[in-house]
Amino acid sequence: MCGIVGILGGEPAAGRLVDSLKRLEYRGYDSAGVATLIEGQIVRRRAAGKLRNLETALEQAPLEGVTGIGHTRWATHGAPTVNNAHPHQAGKVALVHNGIIENYLELREEISASGAILDTETDTEVVAHLINTGLADGLSPQDAVANVLPRLKGAFALAMMFAGQNDLLIGARKGSPLAVGHGTGEMYLGSDAIALSPFTDRITYLEEGDWVVMTRTSHQVFDKDNKPVSRPEAKSTVNAALMDKGNYKHFMAKEIHEQPEVLGHTLSQYVDYTQNKANVAGSEQLRFKDLSRLVITACGTAYLAGLVGKYWFEKYARLPVDIDIASEFRYRETPLSSADSALFISQSGETADTLASLRYCKSQGASIGAIVNVPESTIARESDVIFPTIAGPEVGVASTKAFTCQLAVLAALALQAGRERGTLTFEEEAKLVSELTELPTLTLKALSNEVEIQKLSQQLSKATNALYLGRNTSFPIALEGALKLKELSYIHAEGYAAGELKHGPIALIDENIPVVVIAPFDAIYEKTVSNMQEVAARGGRIILITDERGAAQCGTSPETVVVLPEMSDIVAPIVYALPVQMIAYHTAVFMGTDVDQPRNLAKSVTVE
Ligand code: F6R
Repeated sequence: MCGIVGILGGEPAAGRLVDSLKRLEYRGYDSAGVATLIEGQIVRRRAAGKLRNLETALEQAPLEGVTGIGHTRWATHGAPTVNNAHPHQAGKVALVHNGIIENYLELREEISASGAILDTETDTEVVAHLINTGLADGLSPQDAVANVLPRLKGAFALAMMFAGQNDLLIGARKGSPLAVGHGTGEMYLGSDAIALSPFTDRITYLEEGDWVVMTRTSHQVFDKDNKPVSRPEAKSTVNAALMDKGNYKHFMAKEIHEQPEVLGHTLSQYVDYTQNKANVAGSEQLRFKDLSRLVITACGTAYLAGLVGKYWFEKYARLPVDIDIASEFRYRETPLSSADSALFISQSGETADTLASLRYCKSQGASIGAIVNVPESTIARESDVIFPTIAGPEVGVASTKAFTCQLAVLAALALQAGRERGTLTFEEEAKLVSELTELPTLTLKALSNEVEIQKLSQQLSKATNALYLGRNTSFPIALEGALKLKELSYIHAEGYAAGELKHGPIALIDENIPVVVIAPFDAIYEKTVSNMQEVAARGGRIILITDERGAAQCGTSPETVVVLPEMSDIVAPIVYALPVQMIAYHTAVFMGTDVDQPRNLAKSVTVE
């Protein structure tokens, strides 16, 4: 993960680097650092923990200099200490890195054998040492970098600056994203357009294996074979304004409450309200009509959206779906051909495992579609067709509104596929579309349960373990509820298909374990209720999320019942996602954890 930025500017760089790092904190917040050139010398300020600690360090000891690099870290190799914080320096070079240098142990041995002292636990420091050795041997910075890059295995985006070189930055990318920003008499490097948004909207994205040599008035990109190449300049639409929480205590609370609105925006892109039909531009690229199966791949919450999608594609379009988490899929060597289509789901559009899976599918000739929230992301740029979620920027590390918007897009795609494959009649499609259009109203009603959810969350915050159960499309929502609870409150939680309970997890049930049961009154409601009774019979404390009919017919006395409006099957997983999000949010608030930036996590996971 990690976010990187570099500036060849005309005014002091340190404050501007921090401004950019504020926008990159979603990539990690274990430590932060900047380095600038002052009278030709590299000077660094670094701090463990959140960016505000670096700001304090800079207030205490301000840094001059108009050329600089900055970094916000998600620790991979080495504890999140000041000493392991980037920028790393060896002699005349300082650099910041996003990614993992996989052969760092071998390189460390080589560097130590040459007599140099490595004084961090990171994989990154070796790169600085190797480049510095080249410089000490009399190579130019450009040649020193060109010699080292082919020796690095793994993934990297690097921004490098050199003592005595006030008009030079070198950047390189392999596996991790990097963009060049063009200013007037200034040039920039950054992990993405968001990092560069305070400075410019003129962006050149480096391609895989590219590296770039920059001055304030020029830049030259080289490809992986060191051939000079030209990469196009694009106009970024990223808004430079820093996001604010409005009247909410946390970004997550704001994002949960934005769902009725953003679901409305997203749906309006994918359904034709006048004709009550799905209307997904670009869906022909996925060739639903002739497809024998659809491959879906994603990570975390986005994967769980895909899992709901599987139920919909199979039910409404009779289209088999092969779904897997990207970290497994990418190494599975799934047989694919040009007759296949693959769909990737990612809020950030930068998740390393999802991107690697996409590239694998592409190499096999499959057609590539992506549901992304960041249309300028690498996954978006490498797909044949994108289906953007119109969720707006999601700042809270735990995904909420992006998830429900991903579901809305998947629902529309499944209906589109159903029409194209002839498995849905005109009337059936019209009914389903009109049900989808109720989403803004239904999600608004779901939010009205917040006070009750707050109360039950206070109880939940005393637990050390929790279970979430659901069947059919409520099963992925159970998984999502458990994921949200553990990542935000650090309470251990597991999601299970309710019918699977008796095959093992029922052994966990006693009077100490809260069991959240997600059960809209649908065709299999009674089956879920039977499983719930099995829990009740063993003393489990049940929190039931259902609707009015479900509450009337649950046949046992749950500790708490959260009652949602009655709704159709297609909208239920989207609406039921809101109470599980609110439970995780309020439990975390009671526990006093860092809701927007939970420990050990990052918003964009650009390492595998
Ligand atoms: C959990 C969460 C993560 C992400 C996952 C994929 O709340 O947000 O599980 O869903 O890291 O991220 P994207 O969607 O950016 O590919």
